Amino acid sequence: MHLNLGLLNKLNTLTLRNLYWQMSRRLAAITGIQGYVPDYVLTNAELEKMVDTNDEWITTRTGIKERRILKEPGKAASDMGKIIVEKLLKKTSTNPDDVELVIFATVTGDMVFPDTANIVCDKVGIKNAFAFDIRAACSGFLFALTTGAKFIEAGTHKKVIVIGCDMMSSIIDYTDRATCIIFGDGGGAVLLEPCEDGTGIIDSEFHGDGSGAKYLHMKAGGSLKPASLETVTAKEHYVYQEGKAVFKSAINGMVDTIKKVCKNNNLQLEDIDWLVPHQANIRIINGVADALGFDINKVMINIQKYGNTTSGTLPLCLWEWEPKLKKGDNIILTAFGGGFTWGSTYLKWSL
Ligand code: COA
Repeated sequence: MHLNLGLLNKLNTLTLRNLYWQMSRRLAAITGIQGYVPDYVLTNAELEKMVDTNDEWITTRTGIKERRILKEPGKAASDMGKIIVEKLLKKTSTNPDDVELVIFATVTGDMVFPDTANIVCDKVGIKNAFAFDIRAACSGFLFALTTGAKFIEAGTHKKVIVIGCDMMSSIIDYTDRATCIIFGDGGGAVLLEPCEDGTGIIDSEFHGDGSGAKYLHMKAGGSLKPASLETVTAKEHYVYQEGKAVFKSAINGMVDTIKKVCKNNNLQLEDIDWLVPHQANIRIINGVADALGFDINKVMINIQKYGNTTSGTLPLCLWEWEPKLKKGDNIILTAFGGGFTWGSTYLKWSL
């Protein structure tokens, strides 16, 4: 009896401690959001002139009507990053000297190295930060967001910028109708700061499976097959995708992690104000909503305008929906991409 009471007391203390920790936990809040897409609009009509496709096929199979392309010669991912971060700093009245960490999620960095985050810092005059890239394909922004949040939660950093942006046009073969209709350029960034009012990035459920690499990759340009005349002639510096295999895994991966993150945080579907899915294909987005039984009107969808911008889709959605978001809104971000990589993040909107 005495032992059981002791155990009970101990459990209660642990539960209370856990509750106290949850309530007093310093979270990383999104205190600013900014997006950017280049001006040039590549329409389905224009693609019809480039490859054997048509607006009807693209619209019904993917939901995409147009995408943006960074056309100016000599411009790269860092130039989009520069515009995004400059606007973000201005919008949040942040002094570049106060930024301590910049993380850039991208698979189309300016060069193999150095990391593009450093180039962006140089271009915008951020001098006191350390900076690095995260390359997790379409899950890149989610992984970068949680990584940035951990530095805030640890109490070591107070201002972190997380960018998700890709110049997919630089790695797309515009003679391959299976891929060139899907991707576009653009992205966005968030400012993360500490917050103790219970809003911010609360939880994430992430996964990876390298056996999926065969379905979505770029064959050459890495250490396995360094660039050579042969690799360029064989067009091995472009995205290779087996769409059907990716499609099936994408729906399952997003649905599973959304369910897990809801369960871990005692969230019912009706508690979620907005679902923000990676924008890869409208049929995947509808498939996720259907599988969950989730109201499609609460799903952010802008794939028709921008296509798949890889690391850029999630911040682009948050940026576009910002005027509709209210402080305390429960938001779930979810993504699936090359690797395979996938996961979901639960946050309470802080602005
Ligand atoms: N226009 C017209 N026909 C096209 C076409 C195009 N742009 N692209 C492919 N086709 C044809 C194919 O050649 C094929 O013809 P066939 O039956 O005569 O061989 C047919 O359409 C079906 O092709 P398939 O690849 O099976 O189409 P799909 O329904 O799987 O759609 C994707 C292709 C890429 C749109 C789809 O698979 C997809 O979105 N996959 C997931 C992408 C993703 O999530 N990526 C992860 C993150 S980047």
